[in-house]
Amino acid sequence: MPKNIHKIIFPTAGMGTRFLPATKATPKEMLTIVDKPLIQYGVEEALAAGMGEVVMVTGRGKRSIEDHFDISAELESNLNAAGKVELYETVSRIARMVDVAYIRQKQPLGLGHAVLCAAPWVGDECFGVSLADELILPEAGCKGAMQQLRDIHEQTGGASVIGLARVPDDEVNRYGIVKAHDEDGLLRLDDMVEKPQTDQAPSNMAMIGRYIFTPRLFEILKTTKPGKGNEIQLTDAMCQLAKEEPVYGVIIEGARFDAGNPYGFLVANATLGLQHPKYGEALRKALSQLL
Ligand code: UTP
Repeated sequence: MPKNIHKIIFPTAGMGTRFLPATKATPKEMLTIVDKPLIQYGVEEALAAGMGEVVMVTGRGKRSIEDHFDISAELESNLNAAGKVELYETVSRIARMVDVAYIRQKQPLGLGHAVLCAAPWVGDECFGVSLADELILPEAGCKGAMQQLRDIHEQTGGASVIGLARVPDDEVNRYGIVKAHDEDGLLRLDDMVEKPQTDQAPSNMAMIGRYIFTPRLFEILKTTKPGKGNEIQLTDAMCQLAKEEPVYGVIIEGARFDAGNPYGFLVANATLGLQHPKYGEALRKALSQLL
């Protein structure tokens, strides 16, 4: 039985260029879906999978993430004094849900480099990585995305596991795409390609920002050279990892939104807005008048 995974890395030091100018001074991970920032959805998913030791790899202008998970004594006492019990509880719960460590990535040299920055904090154990701009919500009665990865990690005796989704052929050039084969009912990964053209994609199974790795990944990242976009690519290190030891994929069940670009973000807001107990009905009426 592999050891329990407690540690999870949230890389949040990217430049978020697809969201400019919104992300000029605000981290992409702090953009809200209805009334909650993306990063909070990610942290809640990790906590539900028992990963309660969180490190955020941050960059310039990421202070608001730290403030979000910190106690705001003034706000809490104002809400309390005003008798806004529900809001007080919401705000104070966020500050107390998790202890977060922060590591600075001094330059955005790529996702692989961001993950490597957290190596001293993780040490010699298996760990999770989650990209909070990929919002994945469990369907009723189902497990969260990180828990689904964790189940396969345990089933395989502690192997690395990558979260996947099938995407339309004309979207493969937006993702890292995997080549896989069946191994006793599990998807064993052979190779990965970053953003291939449709005719060169080995499948339509895309990596969707949820990973569990063995610590061997850090050793590989230390020698991974800059690849596509002159960035140190996590995908390149994962290809090497899959050559050295078994890496499995799992098609994640749940409602997924690629909220790292304005279109996916709008769809996420519309979907969750329509489902919202307080705003859903009014939003439905407002939208139907527009259409
Ligand atoms: P993205 O590819 O989404 O890059 O990174 P980005 O810079 O945030 O956004 P665009 O493409 O310019 O619009 C995937 C994840 O990796 C993190 C990002 O914060 C995001 O969570 N990342 C990326 C880093 O932490 N450091 C980097 O150097 C690059």
